[in-house]
Amino acid sequence: PQPGWSESTDVVVVGSGVAGLTAALHLREAGLHVTVVTKVNIDDGSTRWAQGGIAAVLDPYDTPAAHAQDTLVAGVGLCDPAAVDVLANEGPVRVRELMRWGAEFDRNPDGSLMLTREGGHHANRIVHAGGDATGAEVQRALHAAVRRDPWIRLVEHALVLDLLRDAAGRACGVTLHVLGEGTDDGVGAILARAVVLATGGMGQIYAVTTNPVVSTGDGVALALRAGAAVTDLEFVQFHPTALVAAPAATGEPATAVDSVQQPLVSEALRGEGAYLRDGDGKRFMEGQHELAELAPRDIVAKGIHRVMLAEGSGNVWLDARHLGAGFLADRFPTIVASCRAAGIDPATDLIPVAPAAHYASGGVRTDLRGRTSIPGLYACGEVACTGVHGANRLASNSLLEGLVFARRIATDLAVDLPAQTEPVSDNVREWSVSPAVRPRLQLAMSRGAGVLRSADSLDEVAATLTALGAERARPNTASWEATNLVTVASAVVAAAAGRRETRGCHWRDDFPTAFEEWRGHLLATVTDAGVL
Ligand code: SIN
Repeated sequence: PQPGWSESTDVVVVGSGVAGLTAALHLREAGLHVTVVTKVNIDDGSTRWAQGGIAAVLDPYDTPAAHAQDTLVAGVGLCDPAAVDVLANEGPVRVRELMRWGAEFDRNPDGSLMLTREGGHHANRIVHAGGDATGAEVQRALHAAVRRDPWIRLVEHALVLDLLRDAAGRACGVTLHVLGEGTDDGVGAILARAVVLATGGMGQIYAVTTNPVVSTGDGVALALRAGAAVTDLEFVQFHPTALVAAPAATGEPATAVDSVQQPLVSEALRGEGAYLRDGDGKRFMEGQHELAELAPRDIVAKGIHRVMLAEGSGNVWLDARHLGAGFLADRFPTIVASCRAAGIDPATDLIPVAPAAHYASGGVRTDLRGRTSIPGLYACGEVACTGVHGANRLASNSLLEGLVFARRIATDLAVDLPAQTEPVSDNVREWSVSPAVRPRLQLAMSRGAGVLRSADSLDEVAATLTALGAERARPNTASWEATNLVTVASAVVAAAAGRRETRGCHWRDDFPTAFEEWRGHLLATVTDAGVL
């Protein structure tokens, strides 16, 4: 079938979190017409759920070199040092720009920005808003700025399906399906002189994740189908401390409080002094790393997982009682509310926590200008692999990466925007995967490709994904999402099976150490299960 309708713009931005909206605002500053396409509502992505903050050098005694060094150490040898330098050096100006666009961060009584610390940082360099509601403030400010500009066209409830390319192979638009338009009759096309992917992450390939339901890896799936270079997918970061509503049964994923999205208990709580304790009350991170509870995220997640395995428990305990009820209510209102909803008072109770899928450190490979391997296709934010995260993202570098590289894309397009060309193929598929596979896929991924993996566990999940990918349905938004989940889960599993070492957030039971010869990047491929 042909797309039923089409419209044109200069640049189509796919996604409406920090990266997409920042790109749109900078592209408008360059005088370009922009269409932002988003799957549900403008604020429904991961950005608004971010708690801890944005890491940037805003203290006169801190330096970009120190921020870069912490980022490189967390990335365990796989960061691109040039990309990390860009991130650390351009971060402060991007954060100040965000304040000019209206974001208000928490301040000390003397008016200076209040800075906190999270895992892997050797300085207090994290700005936050509303205590632990930083993402909500960033999203609010960017949303308001975008709404103020009548020349940014916003298309909500539209799932982008595939990339359109011209005869020379250059990206020249996307196909998309507008929700409520039934089956593939509702497929349209936006033709553009460049395409910016800012679709966020893929946490929904797991049963236990901090990501919202919309994080189904749509951008990575699109890029894989288009043949763009996608790297480092094995490095799925598990946040060490998601709230567990009730202690879970041994070996099974923890129980969600409301839905599959687990409430986060920010690292900033540990940054402000909370401790991790095992079932006997012992601070088990002491002696494991010089920063103890504030070690890089992969090390803390592994420490917690080891305790859970040894104890046969579904969680460890976070102890914030000594911080006091008043401080907790003022500084961490979101966390206190999540705990209360689960019947826990963090001022008097220990908080049950366990690791949950949180962030894709890999993604669509880009250069320092945000260009992917396909001319005309750009990527920024969680969907991208700019090289700043390596094998494990440093805490609070994610919003920052979105701000920094979105701006770089706009700068590139402002000087080098080609003419509109004609697509050679409509790319509309006639079938897709049944949405009924979704919970089985998530459970298989949590069991076989979660915090700890092995060749056997990965083989098992690969076989499950092949079977699930064969369950077909007529196309609609839910089945296209399921198609994307199978595609990206299969690529994650293939990458995790391919990397026969332990590095950063990729932990192999059967290859428990890092090897120098593995200090490189794996290109993700569309496996059999993912040939869609
Ligand atoms: C957190 O607040 O712990 C999450 C911050 C991040 O993911 O960088």
